[in-house]
Amino acid sequence: MNLALTSLAILTLTAASLSAAGDANHEIIEKVMKEGMKGDTSLHAKVTAGTASADEVKTLADLIHTMTGTKAPVGDQSNYDKKVAALVGAIDAIHGGNKSPEAVAAYKEAANCKGCHSAHKPK
Ligand code: HEC
Repeated sequence: MNLALTSLAILTLTAASLSAAGDANHEIIEKVMKEGMKGDTSLHAKVTAGTASADEVKTLADLIHTMTGTKAPVGDQSNYDKKVAALVGAIDAIHGGNKSPEAVAAYKEAANCKGCHSAHKPK
């Protein structure tokens, strides 16, 4: 194989693996959003209303944890990492048994849909 073909092969492989990683990333985030956050009867809505069962809190916490280490689809990665870490910390406090209004308010703040979407959700 000549050099040009070798570089082409490497480029093609790199592009393929990057887009596979992108898809996996998108699927993880999409699952959290669809199964956890979206809608009036979502786990997120129940947690903020204080009506989630222990199992529901755990399911949401497990979902949110999967966002740790995901790549920001757009925007600054370190800013995204901070938002994800804040969200993980806030749901962990509730999952750990803190049902105080302050813990719920902190979770609501960390789960600010628009705050995260405006910076990190592709248009
Ligand atoms: C910490 C960041 C963050 C928070 C908080 C957040 N989201 Fe998202 N959300 C994202 C990102 C990033 C995407 C884009 C994922 C992609 O396209 O790869 C997204 C996508 C979505 C989608 C589209 C999913 C799809 O079909 O692809 C919905 C619906 C959604 N979010 C709902 C919500 C709701 C409702 C809230 C608030 C209760 C919320 N999100 C809070 C980061 C967040």
